[in-house]
Amino acid sequence: SIESGIDGWLRYSALPAEIKAAHRGYSKIVVLDKSETSPVYTAGKELQKGIKKILGQSVDISFDLSDDLSNSIVVGTTVAFAAGGDEEIATLKEDGFWLNTKARNDCVHILGQNDRGALYGAFEYLMRLAQGDFAAVAEAYNPSAPIRWVNQWDNLDGSIERGYAGPSIFFRDGEVVKDMARIAQFARLLSSIRLNAVVVNNVNANPKLFNETNLNGLRRIADTMRPWGVRIGISLYFDSPREFGGLPTSDPLDPAVNDWWKDITAKVYEKVPDMIGYTIKANSEGQPGPLTYNRTLADGANMFARALKPYGDAVVMYRAFVYNHHLEESEWKNDRANAAVEYFKHLDEEFEDNVIVQIKWGPIDFQVREPPSPLLANLRKTKAVIEFQVAQEYLGQQSHFVYMAPLWKEILDFDMRIDGKPSPIRDIVSGERLGWNRSGYTTVLNIGSDDTWIGHHLSLSNLYAYGRMTWDPCSDPTSIIQDWTRLTFSLDQTVVDTVTKISMDSWPTYENYSGNLGIQTLCDIIYTHYGPSPGSQDGNGWGQWTRANNHSIGMDRTVATGSGNTAQYPAEVAAVFENIETTPDDLLLWFHHVPYTHRLKSGKTVIQHFYDAHYEGAKHAQTFPLEWAKLKGLIDDHRFEHVAFKLKYQAGHAIVWRDSVNYFYFNKCQIPDEKNRVGNH
Ligand code: GCU
Repeated sequence: SIESGIDGWLRYSALPAEIKAAHRGYSKIVVLDKSETSPVYTAGKELQKGIKKILGQSVDISFDLSDDLSNSIVVGTTVAFAAGGDEEIATLKEDGFWLNTKARNDCVHILGQNDRGALYGAFEYLMRLAQGDFAAVAEAYNPSAPIRWVNQWDNLDGSIERGYAGPSIFFRDGEVVKDMARIAQFARLLSSIRLNAVVVNNVNANPKLFNETNLNGLRRIADTMRPWGVRIGISLYFDSPREFGGLPTSDPLDPAVNDWWKDITAKVYEKVPDMIGYTIKANSEGQPGPLTYNRTLADGANMFARALKPYGDAVVMYRAFVYNHHLEESEWKNDRANAAVEYFKHLDEEFEDNVIVQIKWGPIDFQVREPPSPLLANLRKTKAVIEFQVAQEYLGQQSHFVYMAPLWKEILDFDMRIDGKPSPIRDIVSGERLGWNRSGYTTVLNIGSDDTWIGHHLSLSNLYAYGRMTWDPCSDPTSIIQDWTRLTFSLDQTVVDTVTKISMDSWPTYENYSGNLGIQTLCDIIYTHYGPSPGSQDGNGWGQWTRANNHSIGMDRTVATGSGNTAQYPAEVAAVFENIETTPDDLLLWFHHVPYTHRLKSGKTVIQHFYDAHYEGAKHAQTFPLEWAKLKGLIDDHRFEHVAFKLKYQAGHAIVWRDSVNYFYFNKCQIPDEKNRVGNH
């Protein structure tokens, strides 16, 4: 049979007989909620289905806690369970769960702090079984942060901005789709990795989302996802009152504009009573926003916050991706990396309590390497979420494979030293460091209707890893990919080791052949963001500059001679980046403008490092298809061939990258390669 990727890591493959033999089976599944729309009920069904597939055992569902529970699985909330038990349960946070596989009467207890938690616990248990892991546990599982979202960039016409996996599963021809099957499958995947919300439409939003047909469509989406514990949010277009509502203005301080938003919000809530919030991209890349009406960004955000106030825990996600994209490059001090702090820092006290600022992890735009955004260390009162990008926009667009957990981990482990105290970014976004009550994570995601979901079977590991890292940012990227591989492909050790090796090598390899030393991904930046085009970085208003000339390269972001960006970081971090001696090599050109002959800590010159890294990266990419070839016959042919084709393409394209970038810089500086590979022969 053809193995599609629809089930992702939830395939629940039958365990090999010798492993299965060690399992005693179950008497029944006791589900502490009869309502079919409850995630607890979903959990019961999922356990039944999973056990059938993994262990080959058919188990009945009961709803009665007073039955004989020996050898059963009990799933529900701690509250629903309290009536029937006296078990000591460790403290659970919102969405947390307690998993006890050795409870009284050989019973398995899966008890959530809420409905969602119970479902998360069921998935945790099933994913252990699916890996043949029957070890006893009695443990509380709690999330690092309450906000664990994804942002789809889906347009109403069915296209997906930066999507590489077919048309949208949500929209088509201006409307919400009729068939909800893929949406339910998507919700299942999200919930299994404990993600609790999805913003369904593009941040470059279309106000036609508010017509009656689409409001009803949103209701159907929300109804489909709710049994999986996934809530929906939507992106808004700031100028909707003027362009869609027929008002003369969208001024956030105008009472009629406020009423318009309140009215729309009421309509949305009539259809989706548990809508999680609004995401706003405004005054960004040509979009209108509060600044268009001479108001502050806080005035804009607070207007939406007021509209949402009556609706429980709903929040406004106000994106910090605000910058001038007509920046003049000839002015040495101009620097897009400064924009977020300049626009937001002084507003720290101004935002309503239900506004959260959504900050891209780096100061520019999801490059192969950036330092963390300084804004993450500049808000104290205003809460924040960090925005990652599972979509591989600048990382090969799912034609190349780059496993991103190691990149995210480096950012989350980065110590910002706020007020001279330990401040790893994971503790800032969890809310712990600054005492925030709602903060966390979101990611740009480009799931499409392709049966790989994302365009490349291996790239789906990034979604899985995102879920694992947001729940526990101290997770180890190696064990995450090992678990994902066992669940997705096979328990076979060769399969696990091979996928792990390719994955863990993939980011450094891509960095080597795309852009080194913090110079950014040297792709076309004007439109596609794909393929080598180092020349496109400069000479435009976008501000993703390299300032490469015939002698020197890099952005001078120092206070002493450059844009002053280093001073946006807390003092101890600022000191490290200000000084070229202490700036790590991999961020050298991010912070400093140096001659091509500048010597790195490795002893190499910058230009020789470029040449060597590009050769190393392209050479290593050749090993990926060879490694993968070992898996022939160990996994199904369909997915084997798909990945083999992609990795072969990547290996070829890595050579194109190598030569394009190396010759571009050789032509500029005329310094030949010491190893005679690049130059005039
Ligand atoms: C990037 C991306 C755009 C997107 C923007 C955003 O610049 O290329 O397609 O709209 O980010 O995050 O808003």
